[in-house]
Amino acid sequence: MELLNKFKNLYEKDYKFKNLRNGEWVKSDEFNTIKIFSPIDDSLLGEVTAMSRNDVDKTLQCSVESQKDWEALPINERAKILYKTADLLNEYENVLAEFLVYEIAKDKLSAISEVKRTADFIRFTADASKQVHGEAIPGDSFPGSKKNKMSFVSRVPLGVVLAISPFNYPINLAASKIAPALIAGNSVVFKPATQGSISGLLLAEVFNRAGLPKGVLNTVTGKGSVIGDYTVTHPSIDFINFTGSTEVGQHIANIVGMKPLLLELGGKDAAIILEDADLDLAAENIVSGGYSYSGQRCTAVKRILVEDSIADKLKEKVKERVLKLNIGDPREESTQIVPLVSDKAADYVMELIEDAKSHGAELVVGGKRNKRMIEPTLFDNVPLESRLAWEEPFGPVLPMIRVHSMEEAIKIANQSDYGLQSSVFTSNIENAFYIADKLEVGTVQINNKPQRGPDHFPFLGVKSSGMGTQGIRYSIEAMTRIKATVINLHK
Ligand code: NAP
Ligand code: G3H
Repeated sequence: MELLNKFKNLYEKDYKFKNLRNGEWVKSDEFNTIKIFSPIDDSLLGEVTAMSRNDVDKTLQCSVESQKDWEALPINERAKILYKTADLLNEYENVLAEFLVYEIAKDKLSAISEVKRTADFIRFTADASKQVHGEAIPGDSFPGSKKNKMSFVSRVPLGVVLAISPFNYPINLAASKIAPALIAGNSVVFKPATQGSISGLLLAEVFNRAGLPKGVLNTVTGKGSVIGDYTVTHPSIDFINFTGSTEVGQHIANIVGMKPLLLELGGKDAAIILEDADLDLAAENIVSGGYSYSGQRCTAVKRILVEDSIADKLKEKVKERVLKLNIGDPREESTQIVPLVSDKAADYVMELIEDAKSHGAELVVGGKRNKRMIEPTLFDNVPLESRLAWEEPFGPVLPMIRVHSMEEAIKIANQSDYGLQSSVFTSNIENAFYIADKLEVGTVQINNKPQRGPDHFPFLGVKSSGMGTQGIRYSIEAMTRIKATVINLHK
């Protein structure tokens, strides 16, 4: 792959990738590898190291040793390195975006936008860090206390942060953990998703080239199912910032004991369409929200709850737009629907489609599969007994569930185990706020699709969708803790 010529120091012959440890790209002692194939055409892209426990130990040791000096560096110096990282990301934009297309079959425009957004995210993080201040609290405001006490409250880093990212945003969801962790004075161990790990390693090298001191950012590669439990429970890790499935997130939460965690997990975001909604706006957002990157986004619209009186009209509008989606090769700029990341992912989506059919749901459009490519699929009249009403497909399939009232929509929306986001489409602001107040989710979008950005907004899931809050300032706060020093005067 000539594409990777600028990153030759990361790999051996035949694109066998090493890991970043103490500022160097190092081979592991045993150098067992995992082959990474492109979901587009099964071509071999390279191999990453399946690290052993011994490798993990050495890597974490570097992270521990480098952290105190990094914390001691003035924040404006740390910020300079982040600004440089952002500039370099823009410089390598084409290489990174093109590689994303190959490694996770993301359509070209989304891949470019992922890299640009990440550069902006890192710059904003450097800016935001300058606004994270402490406070001084006088003691005498509490009954019985005198004027002789003052608590100086500042924020200090947590130590070594383990950043674990999912396959669907290998650059962005990695950087959105790494940059806030670093600016706060933590060192970072970065474990990318295996599919997406080469893109993740390229990102780590961009941070490295920007001048991060040795050992402040290190990488761990290997299957999460093999090396994950060992890494998350390792005593050198002070905080885990995880984005991925609910299943793995809950597993990690169960085994780490008192280690603090931030979890961004799965979702089943509802788009609730009331009878006074602008149906074109709703249909537009349902289609872009539900099917972009073939539905492989935590914030994808994953169910439509529509009032019966307008359901037929909405169905036609959504169907019309779904039929216009371009299905094809992610390397083409016009492509919107891409092959799913793996055969396993496609098998699962087909299972949900078959289950919906067997429960009598009406197939409006799509439903067919060619290898990992699944047609954008819409079902109407989906019964609540079907799995598609509740499970997260992470693929291009959307169930329409008809409701008779706003209250019924709220009830079904809240019956989900998930609670990431929800959308409400209505022209009645009172109804919008009424529903927003009742929905058990992290964020309610009024007249827009669910989405994480802009990236300085808080982003969080409740129930099985997560724990803790991301978003630039919130992420910095999550990866620092308060340190209070109380001055006591005795004169
Ligand atoms: P995943 O299978 O849960 O994997 C996520 C990460 O966890 C990967 O790096 C994976 O490594 C690692 N991992 C697996 N087992 C582990 C263990 N025992 N210990 C530590 N790490 C372990 O998720 P995915 O398939 O990559 O991503 C799709 C899921 O993520 C969907 O459910 C989606 O909704 C969710 N997601 C949520 C958000 C959000 O912000 N709420 C954002 C994006 C995605 P390997 O790849 O090596 O297995
Ligand atoms: O996949 C989960 C991401 O956090 C979604 O981000 O709404 O910007 O696509 P997005």
